[in-house]
Amino acid sequence: MPQAEIFEVGPRDGLQNEKRLIPAADKIALVDLLSRAGFRRIEVTSFVSPKWVPQLADAAEVMAGIARLPGIRYAVLTPNLRGYEGARAARADEIAIFASASEGFSRANLNASVAESLERFAPVAGAAATDGLPVRGYVSMVTDCPFDGPVPPGNVARVAAALRDMGCYEISLGDTIGQGRPETVDAMLKAVLAELPPDRLAGHFHDTTGRALDNIDASLARGLRVFDAAAGGLGGCPYAPGARGNVASEKVARHLAARGYRTGLDLDVIDRAAIMAQAMRAGGE
Ligand code: HMG
Ligand code: MG
Repeated sequence: MPQAEIFEVGPRDGLQNEKRLIPAADKIALVDLLSRAGFRRIEVTSFVSPKWVPQLADAAEVMAGIARLPGIRYAVLTPNLRGYEGARAARADEIAIFASASEGFSRANLNASVAESLERFAPVAGAAATDGLPVRGYVSMVTDCPFDGPVPPGNVARVAAALRDMGCYEISLGDTIGQGRPETVDAMLKAVLAELPPDRLAGHFHDTTGRALDNIDASLARGLRVFDAAAGGLGGCPYAPGARGNVASEKVARHLAARGYRTGLDLDVIDRAAIMAQAMRAGGE
């Protein structure tokens, strides 16, 4: 049976956009439950500016509180060296740097042009290499940008190549606002695959228009086998107008199983995590 992997991003991407400040203890409980679902990588939080993402201001507390299981890499986002120091102190197993294929979103999300953001990420990737920490790279707005409109596939390929050259072991391609369609995703992948093989790419689909599973199918057809998803389908980026939830992990797990891929995930546990995550959104009501 062929294998595929879900990279669980719910505690980070799922929760970062929630307006109500969720207690650290609830986030820790969610990560601990997800740890029992069979994921090999879980994105826990971000060491970003708390002015920019107040929801994740408790990153250190959450990282200190989770019960780590062997065989799972607990990942965090790091926008700059300050974030990297936080990640190191918190004993993150891997970090992610996150760039954009569009200038408009780069400015809105990082207060920097794409080129400036890449310059800022270089020392972060360098420090991680010195410390032996794996670095994942994100490219956002891989098909459409709420500021700049349709994104040329060549821009995505260029930013993905820049992140590869910095040492990222895998590049996650983000349809941040969930406007991608199988045709636009396929055209984008064709360009990126000229730079990187499919086993170094992941698909990161938000499900705004309900096309995420179709976009996953388009990615599977191009050889990708890693997909980011969030239990309960929570998520969105505060700096991407119109960004809705990540595709739900429980949906992707069932979809991959129906397509004949083994994920090694326990669906019952993911379903429980989905209910827990959705209750957090509802404020426990
Ligand atoms: P800035 O305002 O240009 O820079 O932000 P700054 O250096 O002036 O920092 C502002 C304040 O934050 C300062 O505090 C810094 O000290 C502090 P003040 O001096 O005013 O008191 N600060 C920090 N504090 C803690 N940890 C840090 C840190 N850095 C600065 N690491 C910056 C620039 C990059 C910091 C900011 O723009 C930022 O944090 N952006 C992150 C935004 C973010 O997290 N967005 C969501 C993640 S991306 C996403 O969701 C997409 C993805 O899912 C894929 C997809 O869907 O496409 C990954
Ligand atoms: Mg995202």
